[in-house]
Amino acid sequence: MSKFNLVINGSQFSVDVDPNTPVLWVLRDHLKLFGTKYGCGRGLCGACTIHLNGSPLRSCQLPISAVGKNVITTIEGLSKTGEHPFPPVFAAVANALYKATGKRFYQQPFQSQIKA
Ligand code: FES
Repeated sequence: MSKFNLVINGSQFSVDVDPNTPVLWVLRDHLKLFGTKYGCGRGLCGACTIHLNGSPLRSCQLPISAVGKNVITTIEGLSKTGEHPFPPVFAAVANALYKATGKRFYQQPFQSQIKA
């Protein structure tokens, strides 16, 4: 385990994790930032996309040790003031799917619950 100090969505975070842990799982399992999604886990689908210093990256392929002092932006950080259209649209789609099916599609497992 190693300690990492991170800047995510303009806030400071500190985590103590294995240096090889993908950023996706640091965000979801350790920091409870569930907006970044697990999809394929192989860098193909883009569900886990974050911005690192403004450039999009697949967080499932990025070990936490590679972040350094770079700034992370997740979907939660896009619309703190409500100006970005994507988070409200995503919420509307999720609510519509829930009304139509009774299932919550945005609930996802933790890393330890996924079989490779
Ligand atoms: S989960 Fe599919 S690209 Fe990362």
